[in-house]
Amino acid sequence: MCGIVGYMGCQQAYPILIKGLHRLEYRGYDSAGIALIDSNNELNIYKAKGKVANLEHFADSKNISGTIGIAHTRWATHGEPNDTNAHPHVSQTGSLALIHNGIIENYAVLKKYLQDRGVVFRSETDTEVLVQLIGYLQQTNNCDLCTAVQQALREVVGAYAIAVIEKGNPDQIIAARKSSPLVIGIGEGEFFIASDATPIVEHTQQVIYPNDEEIVVIRRGEPLKIVNFENIEHPHQIKHIDMDISQLEKGGYPHFMLKEIYEQPQTLIDCIRGRINPEGTDVILSGVMDNKERFLNARRIIIAACGTSWHAALIGEHLIEELCRIPVEVEYASEFRYRNPVIYPDDVVIAISQSGETADTLAAVEIAKKQGAFIYGICNVIGSSIPRATDSGSYIHVGPEIGVASTKAFTGQVTVLSMLALTIAKLKNSIDPQLYRKLLGELRSIPQRMEETLKLDAPIRELSKIFTYARNFIYLGRGYNYPVALEGALKLKEISYIHAEGYPAAEMKHGPIALIDEEMPVVAIATTDSIYEKTISNIQEIKARKGRIIALVTRGNHEVARFADSVIELPETDERLAPLIAAIPLQLLAYYIAVNKGRDVDQPRNLAKSVTVE
Ligand code: G6P
Repeated sequence: MCGIVGYMGCQQAYPILIKGLHRLEYRGYDSAGIALIDSNNELNIYKAKGKVANLEHFADSKNISGTIGIAHTRWATHGEPNDTNAHPHVSQTGSLALIHNGIIENYAVLKKYLQDRGVVFRSETDTEVLVQLIGYLQQTNNCDLCTAVQQALREVVGAYAIAVIEKGNPDQIIAARKSSPLVIGIGEGEFFIASDATPIVEHTQQVIYPNDEEIVVIRRGEPLKIVNFENIEHPHQIKHIDMDISQLEKGGYPHFMLKEIYEQPQTLIDCIRGRINPEGTDVILSGVMDNKERFLNARRIIIAACGTSWHAALIGEHLIEELCRIPVEVEYASEFRYRNPVIYPDDVVIAISQSGETADTLAAVEIAKKQGAFIYGICNVIGSSIPRATDSGSYIHVGPEIGVASTKAFTGQVTVLSMLALTIAKLKNSIDPQLYRKLLGELRSIPQRMEETLKLDAPIRELSKIFTYARNFIYLGRGYNYPVALEGALKLKEISYIHAEGYPAAEMKHGPIALIDEEMPVVAIATTDSIYEKTISNIQEIKARKGRIIALVTRGNHEVARFADSVIELPETDERLAPLIAAIPLQLLAYYIAVNKGRDVDQPRNLAKSVTVE
């Protein structure tokens, strides 16, 4: 989704801003733009539809000098992706340039108000309304830029992270946020602005995360100031971020997605480090231990999430209900927030989000908070909005995930949910001590089993060739593997654009089995577990109707090979942790099919990594 970058300092802004835009490309976008103020105090703006490379191609030969600038990648909401709708947008007189991530919900009313007063609009965007309003107020009230921004934002309903610069003033950037992410980097005599820390870390590790409705006043030669709409100064805290630049590079892999698939044995180790003791006899999630009364007295647990995180939540539901005997409800955050949900003060609400910025999940957190529930976050991006809005939580510690299709974050989320369930189960005495120790041992051996699973890369690549031109796919699983089937189908849809459905295997006969014929590939997860026999019967039903079966089985299983077209043998593990292994071949299958089809694997069309609008 839209990414913003800004710079003011002693260096030339253009290369820093362009590199920053490249760092944010993973968020998903369809056009890009940049505004710079040169040494003659002129404002130069360049925009281009498509990739950041198009913008570079267009701007490189122009005047790109200046030590202050703002830049943007746009993911279209209002108005199609084209040069005119790309940001930065300018005010009527052309004196202000603004970039924006978010949505101005009352843009139509504001636009009409401005049009009635003679303001002429150039684009179809909601964003232009904001810069036109700021420009109009600045002129009408004859005030400085910061005051005009404060006045304008008081009128705005919606979400925004913005940065504004002014022709003739090369020494000031005004930034502000509400519900959309914004990070400010503080260097030696220079400042950086970005939607997340990835464009900033190579320049400075000192950052500030402004809060909602705060305005950041960045002036050359002065310390940064944060004020509210009434111009009252707010104190701010400088935080240190620790991010290894190599995590933002492909490291020899053709795509970030493949790199991230391969990182999983290591990210799992990073995720359990310091949480499972070295003897493997105990697991402690400090966020749970510090709030154990809330978990012990929980009437129920509600998990709110979107996309892949929602699939991880379904596995969490199984784990917590089975091991802790606490009722769990899993909710799409986007539905939960709008249906006036019943939430009790003794509920625990868990919000799962890789980015920590998903607008719907954040809104679900706010709603549950208002109703007094205890809110626990399971996130990846440190310092992002959801961890800051929750009462407590656990990071999954898998490092930056750049590929739009989530892979290592999914296994990280499932790992944290396993540790959370085990921690609560032990506190509640709801788990047999032997099973507790067994599961801890299994969890510690998962990285090794993931390594073994990754050795299936070559056969899966071969298999992918057979199915590259399939038009549809069905994924089946039961129990703990049903959410894996959903996740496998989502991976394929996201990056190959092949239609795919995930189903609980036994549900097939209630409708979808009508779709089965000799052209339908069916990926069946049939690893050995407590409902293995039932799953096998369901797969037989598919075979009887000539479906082409690709089966995931536990190593040593020879039964399924008798009727499946292809068999992928996975290392054995406890069924409760099987999703951590079964997800990997499905990630690889989707990846290779997408590569065979020549898709843009890391930045699939229409998708965004960080969904900051609802
Ligand atoms: C987008 C991403 C998905 C992700 C979902 C939820 O759709 O492309 O990969 O699962 O958002 O994001 P979150 O950051 O909240 O986990």
